Amino acid sequence: MDKACELTVVIPTFNERENVAPLIDRLRATLQGVAWQAVFVDDNSPDGTAEAVKAIAAVDARVICLRRVGRRGLAGAVLEGAMASAAPYVAVIDADLQHDETLLPGMLASLRTGKADLAIGSRFIVPSGLDRGLSPIRKLGSRLANGLARVVLKTDVSDPVSGFFMIRRDLIDRVAPQLSSHGFKVLFDIIASQSHPPRISEFAYEFAERQAGASKMDGRVIIEYLGLILTKLTGNLVPPRFLLFGLVGASGVVVQLAVVSACHAIGLVFMLSQVIAALTAMTSNFLINNIITYRDRRLSGVRLLTGYLRFCLLCSVGLIANVAVANLAHEHTSIWWLASAAGAVAGAAWNYVSTSVAVW
Ligand code: GDD
Ligand code: MN
Repeated sequence: MDKACELTVVIPTFNERENVAPLIDRLRATLQGVAWQAVFVDDNSPDGTAEAVKAIAAVDARVICLRRVGRRGLAGAVLEGAMASAAPYVAVIDADLQHDETLLPGMLASLRTGKADLAIGSRFIVPSGLDRGLSPIRKLGSRLANGLARVVLKTDVSDPVSGFFMIRRDLIDRVAPQLSSHGFKVLFDIIASQSHPPRISEFAYEFAERQAGASKMDGRVIIEYLGLILTKLTGNLVPPRFLLFGLVGASGVVVQLAVVSACHAIGLVFMLSQVIAALTAMTSNFLINNIITYRDRRLSGVRLLTGYLRFCLLCSVGLIANVAVANLAHEHTSIWWLASAAGAVAGAAWNYVSTSVAVW
């Protein structure tokens, strides 16, 4: 009988067809003598990544392809790959060859000996950074993201947002139900969710430049990350999506002011202008939230219409709550903007909670 699998390497993919075969070759070379398996978790990439994996899986039983349909997201993909593992150790590595897979045997050794529970491939052990694969703006962003993460984690990890690490499987299993399936910061979330701080070994490597394909990091990923930080800072009180929802709400204020001024310019009376502007802002908030904040639960067809009506109704209640709380606050403080902000936060909280239950 074959040796039981000791190490599951989880590889999230989205449009990485060209990188699949070279990565598997590298894993085969570096993991000689280890009983490993590679679980590719592909979000139905249009470029045929899953087919490329399955072509190899057909001749190498260590390679597995989990093709997810109707879902997108790096964190969720990593989580599902890890959940498929029965091995004692799980590693996560990007498919795009930017991570140095030759660190894997050393990482495995540090877990096997019990020296660490978690091994992290780090770009920042050297203060100058080993991140030539990042653009200057990403270099800065990455350092900011790391700094914020360290504040929340209260541990001394040089690269807590690394996408390259190895961990004892039981540590993920234990916290899996609490992990967010959105965004990029899987490792940060795993560390932040542990009840006891894990023992960590760090391994320096140079983050290489991408050879084929493109990065999927974008503004939404960054906002989701900040949302997750907010969640952890508030002891899980504020959900990660709230920040995005709040930003969309703020965009509604801009829309409203723009429409009012346009109505004013064409000579409409103020009251009518205000009604038109408020309705436009509510509509644009609904549509943007449907496209971005709730991308994974997007409404369409008749449900888009009924969802819209519910959204308008609930947000009207939110408006009343906003004014009521602001008035109440104003009785206790003479700082008008503080009272007004308290109203806005209360209204936004109501809107978020009620629409997340009744609309999406
Ligand atoms: N299944 C799935 N679904 N995979 C995804 C998705 C998704 O929605 N988005 C990205 N991936 C895969 C990519 O195909 C790649 O294998 C890996 O996740 C990393 O994605 P990139 O888009 O290449 O990320 P990056 O290089 O910009 O970011 C790297 O550095 C970050 C820290 O700065 C990654 O290692 C991140 O994990 C890391 O947080
Ligand atoms: Mn990459």
